Amino acid sequence: MAVTKICCIGAGYVGGPTCSVIAMQCPHIKVTVVDISVQRISQWNSEKLPIYEPGLDDIVKKQRNVNLFFSTNIEESIQEADLIFISVNTPTKTFGVGKGRAADLTYVENCARTIAQVSTSDKIVVEKSTVPVRAAESILKILSANHKPNVKFQVLSNPEFLSEGVAVENLLNADRVLIGHEETSDGLWAFKELSKVYLNWIPESKILRTNTWSSELTKLAANAFLAQRISSINSMSVICEATGADVSEVAKGIGLDSRIGPKFLQASVGFGGSCFQKDLLNLVYICECLNLPQVAVYWQQVLDMNVYQKSRFSNKIIESLFNTVTGKKITMFGFAFKKDTGDTRESPAIHVAKTLLDEGAKLNIYDPKVEPEQIKKDLTHPYVTDNPENVIKSIEIHDNPYRASHSTHAIVICTEWDEFVNLDYEEIYKHMIKPAFIFDGRKILNHETLATIGFQVHTIGKR
Ligand code: NAD
Ligand code: UDX
Repeated sequence: MAVTKICCIGAGYVGGPTCSVIAMQCPHIKVTVVDISVQRISQWNSEKLPIYEPGLDDIVKKQRNVNLFFSTNIEESIQEADLIFISVNTPTKTFGVGKGRAADLTYVENCARTIAQVSTSDKIVVEKSTVPVRAAESILKILSANHKPNVKFQVLSNPEFLSEGVAVENLLNADRVLIGHEETSDGLWAFKELSKVYLNWIPESKILRTNTWSSELTKLAANAFLAQRISSINSMSVICEATGADVSEVAKGIGLDSRIGPKFLQASVGFGGSCFQKDLLNLVYICECLNLPQVAVYWQQVLDMNVYQKSRFSNKIIESLFNTVTGKKITMFGFAFKKDTGDTRESPAIHVAKTLLDEGAKLNIYDPKVEPEQIKKDLTHPYVTDNPENVIKSIEIHDNPYRASHSTHAIVICTEWDEFVNLDYEEIYKHMIKPAFIFDGRKILNHETLATIGFQVHTIGKR
């Protein structure tokens, strides 16, 4: 069997871009991305895609309805596919055992049950969602217990390492493609079939074959190591502020050591995004379940440091503004969890906004890509406030950074959008209430120039 039809269950930040790139690189394969959300699928079929990723619009427009399809007809798409990606969300559980820590595998399990129920021919089922170690075993058990006679399944682990904002680039030039398989001849066969798909554009040397459990754990380990680097440099930023050292200089100094390397050493207001916190919580929970408390505590500290960093930054704003922000207007530049995405999941901006709103501040928010409705949804969520009406009265969402900063006391940079670097800060300064403050939570601005203009400048990891 050569794979000629792929079904991807889950048309989100992973399923959408991944399958668009597969469709582009494999014109001989029909790729159908399915989702239970009618709204998401109609957005994928519209002019305005549900997610913003540089380069993605062009690919979708070129491949859509050629060999790339977005559909809500899940069963039909599963039935005709040779290979099925499970690319659904695996959020942190919000109820029951493991609440607030374990990964919620309900959506993955539902996929497995549907696949078992409707499949009438053999399938390679590929776990692309990030899952706890040994999740593939549960998927296989569900498939094996519910399948029709003579239908065989192979389950592979093929975690996704793309980073939002650079997803297309990451998918086209992946550092590696990791495929874990069952250590049997059928498992090896399934590995080869999935490899053939990637070999259309990924060099063979970058395809890494492991056993299923190593593959699942590698995904959690990679995110844990990346998050750990950020918490490590953020911990140094605290020491810098206490001593007069400069964290950018420290980062450069350690990053030039080829054993450490320069990437992921940008001190910041804290890391956000849908993956790091969720996957670290999951790792900590797994360690606790395996009765490895010392290992659990070690990784929990990476998360604790991130909470501390977000709080430190928010508190610094209040302290600097003479210990009160009640009734003061504050501008937030950026709401997304990083630049080049409209995604706000676990964005540090939410934490900063919540702290300021709790203190009675009024917020003018500007982000080039986040939809106003999303900002309102995030800030009126029960985790953020028990008084949503008051929040709505206290925020203004702007589509222009100059208007957003007009007549405000301070600007807080929460996302490192390139456009914030090149704004006319002299013009902005003229229209702000004095003393005018800038809190650069991303260390992207020229602080000397801003100080010359007259701003009171505060940043991270530098006095
Ligand atoms: P997402 O929430 O953007 O998309 C998931 C989609 O799955 C949703 O549209 C949802 O409606 C759909 N879905 C859920 N259950 C379904 C079902 N039974 N049938 C059909 N559709 C269903 O999530 P995402 O960000 O794409 O992440 C997906 C997985 O990939 C997660 O496990 C995540 O940890 C992992 N991951 C994410 C990233 C990232 O940058 N976002 C990177 C690597 C890995
Ligand atoms: C991450 C992983 O990088 C990716 O491999 C995985 O597949 C999904 O999770 P993502 O969350 O999209 O990707 O973005 P990433 O670039 O890792 O940034 C995560 C957060 O860390 C952002 O809030 C970013 O601003 C912050 N960050 C990143 C820092 O604060 N400093 C850094 O040096 C790097």
